[in-house]
Amino acid sequence: MLIASLNGDRGFHLRTQHYSYAIGLVDGRFVRHLYWGAPVEKIPDAVLGSVDAPPPAYLAAIPISEGRVSLDLLPQEYPAWGTGEHREGALGVILADGTSALRLEYRSHEILSDRLMPAGMAMLREDHALGDCETLRIELADPRGDLSVDLFYLVHDDAPALIRWTRITNRDESPIWLLDPASASVDLRPGRYDAVTLSGSWARERHVDRIPVAPGRREIGSRGGSSSHQSSPFVALCDTDTGEDHGRVYAMTLAYSGNFRATVDRDPFASCRCSIGIGRLRVELEPGESFDTAPALLVRSNRGFGGMSEAFHRILRDGIVASRWREKPRSVVINSWEAMYFDIDVEKIRTLARGGREIGAELLVLDDGWFSARRDDTTSLGDWWPNEELFPGGLRPVAEAVRAEGLDFGLWVEPEMVSPESELYRTHPEWALRIDRREPTRAREQLTLNLGIPAVQDFIVATISRIIEETDAVYLKWDMNRAMTEAGSTVLTRERQGETMHRYILGLYDVLRRITDAYPQVLIEGCAAGGGRMDFGLARYSPRFWTSDQTDAVERLPIQYGTSLLFPPEMMGAHVSAVPNHQVGRNTPARTRVLTALPFSFGFELDPARQSEDDRAIFREGSDRYQAIREWVMNGRFIRLRGALSRQNAAEGPTFHDGLGTDHAWMVLSEDARRAAVFFYKPLIAPEPGPDHLRLAGLPPGRWYRDTVGGTVYAAAWLMDRGLRVPRMVGDYQAFSWFLDAVDGDDHDGGSR
Ligand code: GLA
Repeated sequence: MLIASLNGDRGFHLRTQHYSYAIGLVDGRFVRHLYWGAPVEKIPDAVLGSVDAPPPAYLAAIPISEGRVSLDLLPQEYPAWGTGEHREGALGVILADGTSALRLEYRSHEILSDRLMPAGMAMLREDHALGDCETLRIELADPRGDLSVDLFYLVHDDAPALIRWTRITNRDESPIWLLDPASASVDLRPGRYDAVTLSGSWARERHVDRIPVAPGRREIGSRGGSSSHQSSPFVALCDTDTGEDHGRVYAMTLAYSGNFRATVDRDPFASCRCSIGIGRLRVELEPGESFDTAPALLVRSNRGFGGMSEAFHRILRDGIVASRWREKPRSVVINSWEAMYFDIDVEKIRTLARGGREIGAELLVLDDGWFSARRDDTTSLGDWWPNEELFPGGLRPVAEAVRAEGLDFGLWVEPEMVSPESELYRTHPEWALRIDRREPTRAREQLTLNLGIPAVQDFIVATISRIIEETDAVYLKWDMNRAMTEAGSTVLTRERQGETMHRYILGLYDVLRRITDAYPQVLIEGCAAGGGRMDFGLARYSPRFWTSDQTDAVERLPIQYGTSLLFPPEMMGAHVSAVPNHQVGRNTPARTRVLTALPFSFGFELDPARQSEDDRAIFREGSDRYQAIREWVMNGRFIRLRGALSRQNAAEGPTFHDGLGTDHAWMVLSEDARRAAVFFYKPLIAPEPGPDHLRLAGLPPGRWYRDTVGGTVYAAAWLMDRGLRVPRMVGDYQAFSWFLDAVDGDDHDGGSR
């Protein structure tokens, strides 16, 4: 039993081997948050209906059978603003009479033995490996009868995350409005917390921010219609001394690819409320109509950020990413974008494939520029037919040419977009997002199609299907290169315009579902000007993301570090590019570029013909090494050793630099702990740095490991307590790797450490 009703329905205990989560009912009316933490056997009866302290006289309080309750003090599961609660409410409303105050009280509940997901946002795959599931539904309602709220809690036997979402139903006889309804809200006990979030911009995605939670409210979110470069749908609260391998973390992510909103609210008594949900949303509900919020995943770790990431990686691998891609190792990719940009034709692509094969590539992605009149980024999106001059006879000959070189064929598309200079726009201007009498703002000279329109959805499915069938492509890089503006819909009423961006995302999911169902052999790489839409919603359809347009090895370190908080390495596309780097002009050694990309989904973003023979040999070695480790890496444990959240930097003296000079290190440990790949990156050299040892983590004590290159055999305890000696490096932008294999029995000599 995963969900237990306690003491005659006075509370609920959600329990797995990973966590316990407990809810109490105060006076049978108010649904209070009781506990979220390590699994416990039993929730004491005495706390179930309790109010922690009687409210002081000056606070608004409601009489209950055993005294009074102040909503402003009560930890709640889904707080409503305006009737005694002054902190952040979980949803905004405009009721039929124009007022916004809401009271939500317990009405009923049921415990179901199946899995209920929000409409149109399935997130979990059908054949997930998260074990049995039970769903708790708690119905709340406003005593005035305006609306009801169903809280859904999905507990999986073997999932280290609780899934929460909410259904809101209009119970009135007139329409009402919802504003930004949260999927989940949690009230943490009073204490000192830090908030960890991920922020950035184009080419600088998901840098880690860690700041103390101060009194008041902080909000992060996205508003341009995607989960965004600027901020990720993720927030974690942790104890102030939490590190990578110790301390408590309470984390949430929203499995949704559009606007989100997350808040952290610390009240005068130092308790912290944290919520996450769809943002910038205004929904009209007709009488009887319901709205479902997106699924939120709640992860609690007692083992710091490392434990948190392990849980998120696990959910993605075992619950979200399609099984086919869970099992299939990712190919070494060579992409034409940074290799030749728009300067492509069938011969150049053939040559790129040949050069790619020599450095170990297994799949070529023909990027932007293959269609219609597109010779730069100003035209032709929407006109998805091959440019006959560049690709005589269409795409099949170029796809065949690539295959003849021994590589699989993949193609770039940006199907959600339209260029004003295109036949599609001339025929269907009403398909773009637009607002009457407003000039649509262009970004990268393009407009956004409205995926909330069924005809647009059908157009995209038909176009992509035709392209796949014409080329036998096994890979699509699915790009989306601008934020939404003037997000109005030509097919929605005035009352429904506030749903435009949400309906777009539901439309997108449906399009992707139809395509991936029809062509399961095609891997869809999620891209949005790099990593601008990398989230657990899209992960259902996209087992690999283009992590960032930033391909400089040094700039990639904090991006990959931050991204790994949520995503396992095999989902993070990482390509070796040419120097000087195209984004920042930096010259990094070939080996550093290879080692920065190696533990992730490895590939190239360069023209091999223009690289030196020495560098090509290093690239080839990189591909060989990647192919040797990728199968166990995709089931292994990714452990961050140095970077923004780690203590090893500061503790280890003068080698530490702040900012982009920060040393980074991570390792991947195979599931059976018999193999480890360890990577160390030193962006800036320091004078007289003194000895530096990189301490590993996660190795079973008592084991021995051989450094397969240097030959030394180490005890696991040595590696974790003393660490690997970092070789002395000369020059900036250095990197080093170790590949360790477990040594059986007594097969280690006295000279070992
Ligand atoms: C975006 C992508 C790039 C590339 C270009 C092509 O910026 O992130 O990788 O595909 O579009 O126009």
